[in-house]
Amino acid sequence: MQQISSNLKMQDSARESRRRGQSIALVPTMGFLHEGHLELMRKAREKADLVVVSIFVNPIQFGPNEDLDRYPRDLEGDLAKCRSVGVDIVFTPTPEEVYPEGFQTVVTVTEITKFLCGASRPNHFQGVTTVVSKLFNLTLPDYALFGEKDFQQLAVIRRMVADLHFPIEIIGVPIVRETDGLAMSSRNAYLPPKERAEAPEIYKALKNAGTLFRKGLDDATELCRTVSEQINNSIESDCEIEYIEIHDTNNLTQIKNKISTPATILIAVHLGKTRLIDNLQL
Ligand code: PAJ
Repeated sequence: MQQISSNLKMQDSARESRRRGQSIALVPTMGFLHEGHLELMRKAREKADLVVVSIFVNPIQFGPNEDLDRYPRDLEGDLAKCRSVGVDIVFTPTPEEVYPEGFQTVVTVTEITKFLCGASRPNHFQGVTTVVSKLFNLTLPDYALFGEKDFQQLAVIRRMVADLHFPIEIIGVPIVRETDGLAMSSRNAYLPPKERAEAPEIYKALKNAGTLFRKGLDDATELCRTVSEQINNSIESDCEIEYIEIHDTNNLTQIKNKISTPATILIAVHLGKTRLIDNLQL
């Protein structure tokens, strides 16, 4: 396994692989890798000849009062994990390499970034689409893999790839969970023991919504109200629901009344100081 930090070396390496007729799969990450990330890498390994994982904590996708400074990092551990699943290249550029002086070009997906996570994090998705475009141009992938854990992010990337004609197939990977149901996330490391013990209630409430839906409760507002009540009743720690909404799985439009198309329930919760997101296809 090779670690590359320079843009030019990364691009040369990708070009050389393509010249040899090898296909390339990219897994973009911000590091502090867990099983969710590793699952993306395994799927990438099945798909392509060359697997590239990028590790880059992207400053421009964090808001001014967010956790950029305390975002967890463990490069040595991450490299070992990448090696264990057969990654070929780990791309670890510096912020200066990604955003050199004079940088002034961004990529914006205009509409589906305005609600859900985009409502409380106004420049977040622009930061994501900008860095992902750069990573695409630096690693020249045929495939790029993203987790359904960040459901809106996946939809935004798909929109961008279609709109800008990137010749890349986007592959979504189902959410990997802890044994107690909590969706794996690098940010789970922030949770103190009591909050960590209560966090699985979020998924339990979503699963309950799925059960109610299958039993015939098909009013979106009613389902969301049930989830919100269940969470507020089962979590004692300081817990604030940022949103709980149901959206069309395919085009991400919000459903407020009767659910009649494939739908996904999405939630963001502030548990103590930690922001957690999760979702479930109904
Ligand atoms: P990060 O949070 O590190 O996540 C990297 C990838 O892993 C994303 O596609 C995310 O959806 C996926 N992932 C995280 N937790 C997962 C889980 N429990 N199950 C399945 N997949 C999971 O998302 C980002 O980084 C950044 O926004 C990035 C795309 C790298 C751009 O900076």
